[in-house]
Amino acid sequence: MPFAKPFTAALLLAASLPAAAQSRQETLLTTNWKFTKGEQPNGARPELNDAKWQTVRIPHDWAISGPFNGKNDQQAVKIEQNNEKEATLKSGRTGGLPFVGVGWYRRPLAVPALGKSGQAVLLFDGAMSNARVYVNGKEAMFWPYGYNSFSVDITPYLRASGPNTLAVRLENFPEASRWYPGAGLYRNVHLITTKGAHVPVWGTYLTTPTITAEAATVQLRTQVAAPAGTTSLTLRTELRDASGRVVATATTPVTGAEVEQNFEVKSPQLWSPETPVLYRAESKLLAGPAVRDTYQTPFGIRSFKFEKGTGFSLNGQPRKFKGVCNHHDLGPLGTAVNVAALRHQLVLLKDMGCDAIRTAHNMPAPELMTLCDELGFMVMVESFDEWKSPKVKNGYSQYFDQWVEKDLVNMVHRDRNHPSAIMWSIGNEVPDQSTPEGPALARRLQDIVHREDPTRPVTAGMDRFDDDFKYGFAAVLDVPGFNYKPLRYPEAIAKLPQGFLLGTETASTVSSRGVYKFPVVLAKDKKYPDNQCSSYDLEACNWSQTPDIEFTAQDDYPYVAGEFVWTGFDYLGEPTPYDAQWPSHSSYFGILDLASQPKDRYYLYRARWNTTKPTLHLLPHWTWPGREGQVTPVFCYTNAPSAELFVNGKSQGRQTKIPTADPQTRYRLEWHDVVYQPGAIKVVAYDAQGKEAGTEEVRTAGAPDHIRLVADHTRLAADGEDLAYVTARVEDAQGNRCPEATQQLHFAVSGAGRFRAIGNGDATCLEPFQLPRMHAFQGQLVAIVQAGETPGAVQVKATATGLKEGTLRLTTAK
Ligand code: GAL
Repeated sequence: MPFAKPFTAALLLAASLPAAAQSRQETLLTTNWKFTKGEQPNGARPELNDAKWQTVRIPHDWAISGPFNGKNDQQAVKIEQNNEKEATLKSGRTGGLPFVGVGWYRRPLAVPALGKSGQAVLLFDGAMSNARVYVNGKEAMFWPYGYNSFSVDITPYLRASGPNTLAVRLENFPEASRWYPGAGLYRNVHLITTKGAHVPVWGTYLTTPTITAEAATVQLRTQVAAPAGTTSLTLRTELRDASGRVVATATTPVTGAEVEQNFEVKSPQLWSPETPVLYRAESKLLAGPAVRDTYQTPFGIRSFKFEKGTGFSLNGQPRKFKGVCNHHDLGPLGTAVNVAALRHQLVLLKDMGCDAIRTAHNMPAPELMTLCDELGFMVMVESFDEWKSPKVKNGYSQYFDQWVEKDLVNMVHRDRNHPSAIMWSIGNEVPDQSTPEGPALARRLQDIVHREDPTRPVTAGMDRFDDDFKYGFAAVLDVPGFNYKPLRYPEAIAKLPQGFLLGTETASTVSSRGVYKFPVVLAKDKKYPDNQCSSYDLEACNWSQTPDIEFTAQDDYPYVAGEFVWTGFDYLGEPTPYDAQWPSHSSYFGILDLASQPKDRYYLYRARWNTTKPTLHLLPHWTWPGREGQVTPVFCYTNAPSAELFVNGKSQGRQTKIPTADPQTRYRLEWHDVVYQPGAIKVVAYDAQGKEAGTEEVRTAGAPDHIRLVADHTRLAADGEDLAYVTARVEDAQGNRCPEATQQLHFAVSGAGRFRAIGNGDATCLEPFQLPRMHAFQGQLVAIVQAGETPGAVQVKATATGLKEGTLRLTTAK
């Protein structure tokens, strides 16, 4: 039976396989790219002279180097979700960066000899946006949605004997986003060539239908694309455990376009965030003894359920998602994907006890999924922020009818083998919730996802509570997800046929790292002349809450399956509550700031989520010249049940968390009447038995004296990609951070690495991320150093007028 898959007419004629054995070659197209901004009428033509274009490395974000300007993508909008009554000019909504417009990328393409039946495919992990891919001047593909991965068979466009030219035209429209989308080839581009029968892109689908302590069954469905007339192929697959040991095999004759293989793995080691154990399926496509193709499918073995009344369980253990939502930008690095930067974020989240990520509000980089498999995070893979009804003028609603199915299929096909992928989200706060057609649309999208992956549930972030029940949207979803509705969970559960619900988006507390405002009071939509928010973690939007409100609902209602906090990290764009107050251009929602520095809130979540390590954190800082004699409340975030506070040795009394009290008293220890005097505040924590469990002290800082550099790690891989995040602190002579220090710090990086970027976490700072200097914000900032490819030592030096310099030595190794 002929089972040719995506082959061209010419290739279908080729009946015999080339003699060459193993055929697959995969290359990352990172170098040799030329880039220019602006329309190029002949941009696709091979003969165009691009010598004067900029030489760039992919992944590349053309807009991150700025300059910032409030006029970039200025949007006159009424943000309905913020209950705005009239439109105002939003300046930093998409980050104030110059991403709008056309950009062209070109490179020569060396394609290995394909023989008669070979195929060359380009796989784009994401291209922002409206990508048109040209090979030798001919358009081979158009893919509008900038977040999705797509592949294109370029074989018909190749010249028999090179050279070949690849050109990509991208175009970003104004008013197409609610946050910074990035610009350009910001994710990897792969060239994949095969010479005959092969497994196509995303060509396997692996599931684990039954799992017991004794054995797990594994089903692998493999697509095989082969030239017409190909006979006698077999697929041999070995399943290997984490140590590489073969634990099951199957050899199956290929009789159609899809091969099904079933395996049993004895005593399976289960994947979970705490035990991220991975297996892999290694498949070989054989013609007799000759290997035609090899294909790897990493996987994990785990089961999970959402159940009426009890919410979520993983591998039979009930648990609640301790999740965060994240946008895709990497702060000072912009959207250009970097594995070391993603790992850095995940390591910080892991230490906080976070076990889940929602990829708000779009498909993530594939590297994030792989890292979540390896490090242990459950992922809600999200697709869209809009369906048919627009939120922004040029958003996804423009493409919805024509592209929604293709986009969902690619999302699912790419990520459905990842054990970390736990559920699919078909949308975030889509206005279609409020239309009579909304539920049918939701069902249609959910059905598409079920068709492509029946093993995972579908959710969506709902924000229109009354309409969700009025029109029936909430009843459609496998997992009803609510954004910011902890106070209405009881009302929801009474109406939901599912019997459980999820906090798809929670909290949206706003704060600026290290900034404290007085008086210390709960406040909504609070604004200050300096465009900052208070780090006492009591400020939110009119529709959002402080963390404690959600904690209470999570703890009191067993049917709640967990939460995804908005957001793990600050992101570029959406500077609520200062959406209309330039120079604010990045968010205040993050638990960590834009430069990945923990805010106080980090410790509030850590105290609750990290159940294996103690947390004891005091705020605010204690350097308040001019506040002498004034009330300056002190908060302690700890997993200890009680603690006693001392100011200059004098007890301020002991506070105990009270489980039934108002939310704050339940989760924080607070001393509201403390009067500021310079010196030291010290807290002594006590465990449930009343035994001392730790102490923490914060001292008044003296005059700024020196810069101290501390790296997140000091041994880097000499791979040209690895990063060290170097925190620079302005300290007094005793080593106390000077919280008001704003000196401009200058960096010099020499040796086996280079300066890559810098950030201070100040949402109003307009200094570029790419120059090796920036002002400290609250006495601190972060410089990002990138390893070179030659092993050796890297010297990092930071200087500032009036301060002793800081130095640090990193090493890179192969
Ligand atoms: C939510 C929305 C997010 C973000 C957040 C903070 O309603 O889903 O994308 O806008 O509010 O403003």
